[in-house]
Parts: sequence; C-alpha cells; structure tokens
Amino acid sequence: MTTTDGAPAQDFMAIPDRPRGLLIVDLGTQYAQLIARRLREAGTWCEIFPASKALAAAEEMDLAGIVLSGGPASVYADDAPDVPEGLLEMGVPVLGICYGMQWMSRTLGGTVEGTGQREFGHTEIRMGEHAGKLLAGLGSETVVWMSHGDKVTALPAGFRTVASSETCVHAAIANDEKGFYGVQFHPEVSHSVRGQELLANFVLDVCGLPGDWKADSIAEREIAKVKELVGETGEVVLGLSGGVDSAVAAVIVHRAIGDRLHCIFVDNGLLRKGERELVEHAFRDHVGLDLTTVDAADRFVSKLAGVTDPERKRKIIGHEFVEIFREEAKRFKDARFLGQGTLYPDVIESVAAHGGNTAVIKSHHNVGGLPEDLEMELVEPLRELFKDEVRQVGRYLGLDERILMRQPFPGPGLAVRIAGDITPERLDLLREADAITTAEIESAGAHANLWQYFAVLLPVKSVGVMGDARTYESACALRIVESLDGMTADWGYLDRDLLRRISNRIINEVRGINRVVLDVSSKPPSTIEWE
Ligand code: XMP
Repeated sequence: MTTTDGAPAQDFMAIPDRPRGLLIVDLGTQYAQLIARRLREAGTWCEIFPASKALAAAEEMDLAGIVLSGGPASVYADDAPDVPEGLLEMGVPVLGICYGMQWMSRTLGGTVEGTGQREFGHTEIRMGEHAGKLLAGLGSETVVWMSHGDKVTALPAGFRTVASSETCVHAAIANDEKGFYGVQFHPEVSHSVRGQELLANFVLDVCGLPGDWKADSIAEREIAKVKELVGETGEVVLGLSGGVDSAVAAVIVHRAIGDRLHCIFVDNGLLRKGERELVEHAFRDHVGLDLTTVDAADRFVSKLAGVTDPERKRKIIGHEFVEIFREEAKRFKDARFLGQGTLYPDVIESVAAHGGNTAVIKSHHNVGGLPEDLEMELVEPLRELFKDEVRQVGRYLGLDERILMRQPFPGPGLAVRIAGDITPERLDLLREADAITTAEIESAGAHANLWQYFAVLLPVKSVGVMGDARTYESACALRIVESLDGMTADWGYLDRDLLRRISNRIINEVRGINRVVLDVSSKPPSTIEWE
C-alpha cells in the first residue's frame, strides 16, 4: 500500500467505490490537507492531487467540483506549477483559493500583478451588493486570513467582484453562470472566522452535493477496504499506543478480520506516567483485543543516548518500532500485514502527500521512519482521515468515550518533548512534571476546550533558591494549545491560580526542576510539539 519513501502507492485508480466528491488540486500549499478536512466537515468526500496528476484524476473521479489550492509561487515564476487548463473545462464548479484564484483569473484572460510586499494576517472584507451563492449568509463584513504577494488587478470576462478589503479590491470574485469562484484569502484556516460556512456554501449550494459523507459511511468503507486487502487468511500485527488513532484503527481492523488481529503495545520508556497500566487495562480487559506488551525501554533509551537532533530521534524511534513489530510478527503464521493508526496530517507533514510539492516539517515516526526493505504490507485505515473524523468513527463503532477523548500523544512520545539529551533521569523529571500538569488541568475542568496540555523539558539550567540554599536545576515549559485538528493551533489561556498551582507543585515536588515557563506561541509559525 505504501512505497518505501512513504508516498501513498494506493493512487486514485485503486480506491473502490469512490464516492461522488471534490478534487483538490495541491499547488504547493501547506494547507491542502486542511482544505480537505474542512470540505469533509461540510459532509463531502474529497481527494488531493498535485497539478501533474489532477487532470487524470478529474477524469477518473465522480467529480462534483474542483478546488484549486494556494501555493508559494507567483503565476509568473519559472517554478510555478504547471496546471492543466483542461481543469476549467470539466463542466463542474471551480473554487480558486489565493494562488488558485490568480491562476484561474490569468488563464481566463484577467491580470495578476505583484503587490511589491506580502499581505499577511487578519483582514476585514466587505461583501458587495449581491454576494451570490458562495458568500450567501456570511453577513456584510467578516474577518479573513490573507497571505499573498501577488493579486488579481483585472477580472476575466464574466466575473464580478463579490468582496473587497482595504488593500485588495478583488478579495472574492464570482462567475455565477459557470460556477467559477475565487478568493484571495484562506477560508480553510480557522482565523478566517466564517471560512467554514463559505466552504459549505461551495459544497452544498454551488456543487449541489448532499453533504452526507459522515462517520457511518467512512467506517463501513474502511472496514470493507481492510477486509479486501487482508483477505481470508491474512493476519495483522498492529501497534497500539493507547492514543485514539491506533485504538480506532484496531477496532476497524478487528471488525474486518476478528481475531486475526494481534495488537502489540511497546513500552519504549518514552511513555507518560501510568500509561502502560492504563492501556493494558483498557484494551485487554475491556475491549478484549489480543494484546501483547513488549518491554523495550532499555532498547529505545540506549539507542537515543547522546542524540539531540529532533529528526534523528524520530528516525531512530520509528526504526526501532518497526523492528519490534517485525520480530513480533514472526510469532504468527500469516502476519504479512502491519497495522498503523497513521492519519492524513501525519502523511502531509512527513512527505508530500500524493506527490505534491509541500515542504517536509517533521518526520512523523509512523511514516517517515519506515525501512526500505519493509517486508510487511501496511494496513492504515485512517490514512485518509482527520482526527475529528477518527473520533466520530470510533464513536460510531462504540469505543469508550474516555479513550476517544484522550489528548493526542505523539508516536515518539516524551522523546520529542525533551529538548536535548534523553536520559532515564530526564525522562523521569518530565514524566512527573507532565503528570502534575495534566492532573491539575483536568481536576480544574480546564481541559474542555484544549487540544493538548503537557510539559516540555528544556535543555537549560537556571539558578534558584529553595529554603536558604542555592539550586541549579532544569527548566520546563507548559505547552497548552487550542486546536481543531492539530494543523493550526493557538496557545490556550489558563487562569492565574491554576498556573500558579501547577508551577508550585512542579517546583516543590519534582526534584531537578526549579523553573516553569509558559509557551505562548501559535502554530504556525511554531509547531505544537517542540521537536
Ligand atoms: P506538531 O508538533 O507537528 O504536531 O504541530 C501536530 C499534532 O501531531 C502530533 N504529533 C504526532 N503524532 N506521531 C504522531 O502520531 C508523531 O510523530 C507526531 N508528532 C506530532 C502532536 O502531538 C500534535 O497533536
């Protein structure tokens, strides 16, 4: 299912019973997956292809519309993606976002010019007299997120301006007759306050889709795909981490092939406090899965000794995981398959999904660290899904709410939350600080709107005073974020008393930490995990 460089080998030809939906053409944006997630939220199936494969995909798909993404290039640049003009002749509506709008405008006879400077950040747009289908119901003005250098200065024939900002006259344009629309801003980013409504207008009113792509159809489709892939006798070894992704992946595979699924839980020494006990109890005793725990803390921690580079850490951990699965798989007669809870965002942030030209940010261990000679075929029933879809599917399949609502925990575990050297002692420090952070936030009920809340151990020591004595110990940071999907995030607010309690408890109870700092960075431009 996957090539050795991590790119999905399962191309559009191989997807059975493809539902009617939208094609997203990835023109080099970091946000292609986010666009997909938002369109799915509006209840439609959609797929992403790079410009080079877009026309073939458009012809194969049961196509209801096309979304042209943004991208870093200028339409005049030598390295601008070569977008096939045939996409505008498919007889379906087209929505161009930022670069996509500029390409469409220029291709249809309009003019695009450089502004001389980038316009970046929140901008207010005002709607014109007749907003049309795309902007219907969005009010007379709204805040959107802009990020562009060039802009459209003269419209192609048949288009009109439907919204403007102070610096961008043609902030949204429409040709209602053809169903062609362009927006200079990014409706997919949560900073665009009514962006989701705009995208839903495109899906439901412009493309006329029913909006019925929901958890039940996703779950049944994925179960059927696993059944077909694994066949009558195949066995799957699946790494259970305790997180929601691998749990839902396990339940899907279990529904598909029953007790031919063997779950492995690796205690890699990089787990949170109490995690091993929790996982064993929840999955072995309650869900009733066949679960083996592998004791591998020494193996991981010794391989990581002296390694400080984040990408190297991720690669080492990914490699070790796969080795363990391979060893475990030998215990089963026909375990040719390796199950993983890889999500769509994991794929995009590790490799250019579907061959697109997006930059690598982090190698997520379950995609970036696969060895070239992997002899097992991958079973990744969540590979095309986003976290919220995974939770909905899990709920539909009857998974315990406590498992479904656990905060996400990265595959490489605490290793990517220890900046600098990883040692058993530093792991213990972080485990304790993290347990205090989590317990205090949860007992105050402050976690309801948070995506993640955890501690990070910094490679910094600073001077403190305890009683009358001088201390010289480590510092930790609190990372508390709000997010819908982990793709973008804002730092979350905790009240001062709660912050004080967390800080006091860490400094008083964790010997080796004498300073707590607060991380107030959003994503982008920072990421959620520090490494
Ligand atoms: P970043 O740090 O990229 O994280 O902003 C986005 C979300 O992904 C989680 N994350 C991972 N999940 N394997 C995973 O399964 C990984 O290697 C990994 N790295 C980051 C992170 O916790 C956040 O929710």
